[in-house]
Amino acid sequence: MKILITGGAGFVGSSLSLILKEKYPAYKITAFDNLKRRGSELSLADFKAHGIDFIHGDIRNAEDLASTGDFDVLIEASAEPSVMAGLNSDPTYVINNNLYGSINCFNACLKKKAKLIFLSTSRVYPIDRIEQANFVEEATRFCFSPEQSEKGISAKGISEELSIDGARSFYGTTKLSSELFIQEYATFYGLQAAVTRFGVIAGPRQMGKTDQGIATLWMAKHFWNQSLKYIGYGGTGKQVRDLLHVYDLVELIDMQIHHIEKFAGRVFNAGGGVKGSASLQEMSAICSNITGNKIRIDAEKENRPADLKIYITDNSLIERETGWKPTRSVEIIFSDIYKWIKDNELKLKPILG
Ligand SMILES: NC(=O)c1ccc[n+]([C@@H]2O[C@H](COP(=O)([O-])OP(=O)(O)OC[C@H]3O[C@@H](n4cnc5c(N)ncnc54)[C@H](O)[C@@H]3O)[C@@H](O)[C@H]2O)c1
Repeated sequence: MKILITGGAGFVGSSLSLILKEKYPAYKITAFDNLKRRGSELSLADFKAHGIDFIHGDIRNAEDLASTGDFDVLIEASAEPSVMAGLNSDPTYVINNNLYGSINCFNACLKKKAKLIFLSTSRVYPIDRIEQANFVEEATRFCFSPEQSEKGISAKGISEELSIDGARSFYGTTKLSSELFIQEYATFYGLQAAVTRFGVIAGPRQMGKTDQGIATLWMAKHFWNQSLKYIGYGGTGKQVRDLLHVYDLVELIDMQIHHIEKFAGRVFNAGGGVKGSASLQEMSAICSNITGNKIRIDAEKENRPADLKIYITDNSLIERETGWKPTRSVEIIFSDIYKWIKDNELKLKPILG
């Protein structure tokens, strides 16, 4: 089996490369990345040590993709993954990178007769529909109420039934457009593809920054005793996300590589779910507990554009249809990030510190 991972030096791509190579030593794994994300360059030494090939290339350039040799599976894990991208500046970069670049990847799959695994996002769902959902305010977090009028929203979170009609950010729109193109490639050219809309993914190797990678950002600020801010929703830190451990994601993608027929022609949500969710306040408590550091957290009342009060994945469909489910808790996610930062403190400080 030959697997090409675009965005292979990033958080998800490098985790996939290393874990799949360890599990299947006979597979040829090639990571392809333009190293645009700060910190991705640190993956290169790990690739060398573990027998993973690396190609420095850009998915916007079809010639770079043509130089990769044969592959049986392409995992498209490259992107500009920030929901803020293009909201306060020219959106051309995020559109070209995420949409035009993805289409080059789909064409490369056709040429090589390869399967496609596409990492989409919960951000395809419209902001207003989620923001207008009924919610209750508890002591440390906001929760979706059990009574909802919008199909696809319940106390269990957001399911695939939620309408996609409405604005969602340029990032979300590039991903939704890619999903639509995959449908065309599947129908008219027979491309076999697995498409998953992931909620927030977290774990070791993520180069967290203020606009992307919340769990690492939270742990890093606690680790180095720096300050943070609760931004939006009154500045109380009650906004909630579900977090999916990247190792749970790798288990799902392993299943998709080997049983794509379970996924082809469908779109599934996947995330940490209610059990794997936490508010910012709760994340602060977990990080303080693990590091022993209680840091200053300021409050900024005004909301950021495209932000959400609550996002939780309803995993019912994927669990029922495929048997996959997340098994690692929020506490495990934060302890694994802590251990990774501690073990690589000197290398990571210039990037995360
Ligand atoms: N991290 C999350 O919470 C999350 C949630 C849902 C979906 N996703 C999706 O998962 C995928 C992986 O995200 P991640 O968190 O690992 O992001 P990341 O930024 O850590 O990794 C992306 C990698 O892609 C590379 N890259 C960017 N543009 C490229 C280009 N034009 N050509 C080649 N390489 C390029 C970057 O250098 C980086 O190494 C993305 O498609 C993202 O949209 C991520």
